[in-house]
Amino acid sequence: MMIHDVNHEDDGTSNTSSNPWLADINTSRRTLVLGGLAAAVAAFSGTGARTAAARGALPAAGPFGISGVATGTRRGPLLGFNPIAPGIHADTITVPDGYTWQVLAPWGDPIVPGGPAFTPGVANTSSAQNEQMGMHHDGMHFFPLKKRHHGPQRGLLVVNHEYVDQNLLFGYTRTAPFPNLTAEQLAIALAGHGVSVIEVQLQNDGSWAVADSGYARRVTGDTPMRFSGPVSDTHPMLTTGVEPKGTLNNCAMGVTPWGTYLTCEENFNGYFGASAAYVATPLQARYGLSAGGFGYRWHTAPGSRFDLSTNPNEANRFGWVVEIDPFSPTSTPVKRTALGRFKHEGAFVHVTKGGRVAVYMGDDENGDYLYKFVSAGNWRSMIARGRSPLDEGTLYVAKFSDDGTGQWLPLVHGAGPLSVANGWVDQADVLIRTRQVADALGATKLDRPEWTTVDPQTGTCYVTLTNGSGGRGATSGSRGAPVGNPFGQIVSWNESGNDHAATSFTWEVFLFAGDPTKLDVPDTDVDDEDRFGSPDGLWIDADRRVWIQTDISNSTLNAGRYDRIGNNQMLCADPDTREVRRFLSGPEGCEITGVITTPDQRTMFINVQHPGETQPSTFPFGTTPPRSCTVVIRKLDGGVIGT
Ligand code: FEO
Ligand code: CA
Ligand code: CA
Repeated sequence: MMIHDVNHEDDGTSNTSSNPWLADINTSRRTLVLGGLAAAVAAFSGTGARTAAARGALPAAGPFGISGVATGTRRGPLLGFNPIAPGIHADTITVPDGYTWQVLAPWGDPIVPGGPAFTPGVANTSSAQNEQMGMHHDGMHFFPLKKRHHGPQRGLLVVNHEYVDQNLLFGYTRTAPFPNLTAEQLAIALAGHGVSVIEVQLQNDGSWAVADSGYARRVTGDTPMRFSGPVSDTHPMLTTGVEPKGTLNNCAMGVTPWGTYLTCEENFNGYFGASAAYVATPLQARYGLSAGGFGYRWHTAPGSRFDLSTNPNEANRFGWVVEIDPFSPTSTPVKRTALGRFKHEGAFVHVTKGGRVAVYMGDDENGDYLYKFVSAGNWRSMIARGRSPLDEGTLYVAKFSDDGTGQWLPLVHGAGPLSVANGWVDQADVLIRTRQVADALGATKLDRPEWTTVDPQTGTCYVTLTNGSGGRGATSGSRGAPVGNPFGQIVSWNESGNDHAATSFTWEVFLFAGDPTKLDVPDTDVDDEDRFGSPDGLWIDADRRVWIQTDISNSTLNAGRYDRIGNNQMLCADPDTREVRRFLSGPEGCEITGVITTPDQRTMFINVQHPGETQPSTFPFGTTPPRSCTVVIRKLDGGVIGT
């Protein structure tokens, strides 16, 4: 373990409601699927028959037969690469034969060529870090730019920086808790967070490079912000006497059809602490705020706004989805409050049949919920009238039923139990206290919902439930997986009428992860292709390949169970046959997160986050400190990634 260890993942549970767990209704749902449809699917499937039958695959909706052969434009098999071996431990990237990779934009590299040089540790300064790539790359998107005349393929790569390792940032070598921070140390840490916008270009030799660009920009934990939607920054619960600044713990992301980037604030609670005796309010407790936070000690810096004792409203300014226009480098990022306040993992945007936007969002904590926001109107007409589709609409939370159906419950002030008489003041109050509202509505507790995504062709939705973090006891042991669900699974659902504005859906388990030799009860559902754990990153490309990234992060929970899993990795699944192939294994102690391709699908960008955090690493340059970075993947023959 690292020195000055900080539990950045916040594997705690703040949900004390009596709402049911999805895991408690998993068993009957899965039995229903296996008993009812497996035989029929097996009879029609080709080479994927065993896998599909064992998993109880349902026929896909849309223009696809249950044989898994697309009737669209794609030719050849969906998954065309030979999988890499399971269980790899190597301090490097491993990709299939016929593929190659390179490092791009590591932590500390300047965002434009010629910027301040990387000076980690004691020589680091906030002014340099503010013009360099932040730390711990996470969600990411590629926004293509038009080729200049005969120029190279290019685009803006927008990268989240989730958190910082203060040992590497400050050059600490001791094992004691962090000492009090100086104001400059806090400024460096804030500059390491947020978002980087860089321009990247394809070179003649097939590699990618960071280019000088007027679009290059850092958004950090100290960048001025604006609030929009039902909660304004003058709301009494958000007023602090200083301007709103910063976005923190920027985990996954979303992309709007009008070309902006959504960065999502996840474990913001960890940055706050209390300098005086502290008793959390019910609101603070539900958001996991505590006297010590995650041990960063930001509240000890002179004049810190992260001290709950002197500035409790500052915490209410975090936990939002933030919209950034990457093509307007001087624009002020906007916290879109209509999307609710929780530990936002990501915000996947899908356009509904009626042209509205539906935004799917997980609240990543053990026992928290899955949300959907639907804009009030057609996004094009709202934009044309100068209104943001993310400011007006309805926020819903998911309730799963054991018959395989589910409901989206609206978080609307005045509706159902959300009355003034019950203590809900107005819609702004409902949004600031999103988690408590969802508790009151009877939402279904999940095993840490992380990324969401939508199949671009069929409309089927997916969410990774990364794991149970061991906090729930025996309730999830019944389906063959170990007690506490340490390996996680992926759940899929279809909106009623395939309308993403619908308020009901049907759901099933898409796949379970796990080591088949480490289950408490043998389970034919889990075989060696599923030998991974803690699915987290999730994205479906234009051809419908389901890209799955893993984040094994809690070594205590995973002790023993994960011995044969190997390093964190990326896999690719066929959504129809549910075959899984292992595509990439990461260096020691890292997480693999963030995934996007160029529009031609011939370049893939992924991120290696925190190499060396749980095992020693010198990735990517064979030197210390190890550095989070983007990794570019290409096929040697220049073909589509995944074929
Ligand atoms: Fe930031 Fe839940 O991963
Ligand atoms: Ca994640
Ligand atoms: Ca995770």
